[in-house]
Amino acid sequence: MNIKIEPFKNNIGASISFNIKLIEPKNINQIKEALNNYGFVCFRDQNLEPAEYLKFANQLGKIKEYPMLKDLENHKGITVVERKENDKGKSYGEGWHTDSSYLSKTPKYTCLMGKVVKKDQGQTLFASQLASYEALDQKTKDKIESLIGVFSSAGPISITRLEREAERGTGKSKDFLAEHSIVKKVGSRKTLYLSPGHTIAIKNLSEEESKNLLNFLFNHQTKKEFQTSFSWEKNTIVIWDNHSVIHSATPFQGRRLMHRIILDA
Ligand SMILES: [Fe+2]
Repeated sequence: MNIKIEPFKNNIGASISFNIKLIEPKNINQIKEALNNYGFVCFRDQNLEPAEYLKFANQLGKIKEYPMLKDLENHKGITVVERKENDKGKSYGEGWHTDSSYLSKTPKYTCLMGKVVKKDQGQTLFASQLASYEALDQKTKDKIESLIGVFSSAGPISITRLEREAERGTGKSKDFLAEHSIVKKVGSRKTLYLSPGHTIAIKNLSEEESKNLLNFLFNHQTKKEFQTSFSWEKNTIVIWDNHSVIHSATPFQGRRLMHRIILDA
């Protein structure tokens, strides 16, 4: 089956017109190539049952367990991200981050499918870290080439998780800490791998140097010029490469429910 790929502005994200139920093996490579080029891809109007969604995801990578949320009953590998009708405070995932960067083996891709979404109910902002890396001056690129970042699940974004755990009375889940190179390679290009919600320090720098460099890079990587704002609809699937985009949920009210799968490459 032929797929039609239409990049968004500045090649940050792309829309793929395609019926996932008719997928062929060659399409998987086309989707991965689009992810390498554009960081995230979306598929509209995909009415997939959980088993069909898992089957599709399984072809893109190895389904990974997510330690912070429960699996959907009878469908291991799908976690439910839900905001209830009367939930207050921040949305889950509000604040710039890349998923699970506090794990020593980070997920390559995240898939998110809108199951209950009302009209105009929240966007996800994506910022291209291919673009942000390429826009750095050579001096900064040289400086950060071999630096290692420290990533924590107790970083600034954890507040949304902690609120959720408190509301549900599930108790505090375990915190995770990991170290990663802050420059990664995706395809033939380099990316800036930092997660403002999780990166708490740069190794082997003084506390002040680390703080200043992180502030500068966080500010740089979230500039408007690297961003695309994506609007959700029911039955939309978005897949992103956690190594080449960072993302942030935006505020909204009312019930919204998504099915999420994370994958190793
Ligand atoms: Fe996220």
